[in-house]
Amino acid sequence: MYTKLFAVGMSFLTMATLASAQDVSVEKGARIAKIGGCHDCHTPGYSEANGVLDPAVALIGSPVGYQGPWGTTYAVNLRIEAAKYSETQFIDYLKHFETMPPMPWFNVHELDESEIRSLHQYILSLGAPGDPAPTYVPPGVKPTTPYIVFVPVMPAG
Ligand code: HEC
Repeated sequence: MYTKLFAVGMSFLTMATLASAQDVSVEKGARIAKIGGCHDCHTPGYSEANGVLDPAVALIGSPVGYQGPWGTTYAVNLRIEAAKYSETQFIDYLKHFETMPPMPWFNVHELDESEIRSLHQYILSLGAPGDPAPTYVPPGVKPTTPYIVFVPVMPAG
């Protein structure tokens, strides 16, 4: 009787373990990066190429700044960023970080554990980290790179 219960318990455990192991993959991470919009800002040229991904520059960060009242921010090199954390540390980090605009950090908090593990594996699979994106420029200081200005304009009249 106990042996049988134990066996049933074990098989549930095995199924659960298998399901969560299958749930984490580089392919799934690649999908999250696409549908989560990470390439839109963190991969140079991605939007301009209508979503055709150049693997050489995937998630290496943007040389073009985003300027608004917060100053000028640059979508960071996520290969460098992900490499700073173990897969497990990345979960805690992505669930709690906050940044300046226009990074939609509040959306990233919604990713679940298997999605974050997959994203970490995908980012690390991309290869050499490369160089960091330009550093943040405070308000009132002129950036030395191209930048996009985020200013709401009221229609005249
Ligand atoms: C609209 C553009 C945009 C999108 C979309 C976007 N990012 Fe960002 N991201 C940025 C910018 C700009 C920064 C730098 C913000 C700053 O300097 O405060 C940033 C910063 C980050 C950081 C913080 C790095 C640090 O130094 O703390 C992480 C992590 C990050 N992004 C992950 C992601 C992930 C994961 C996705 C996709 C799910 C994503 N981003 C989508 C623009 C974007």
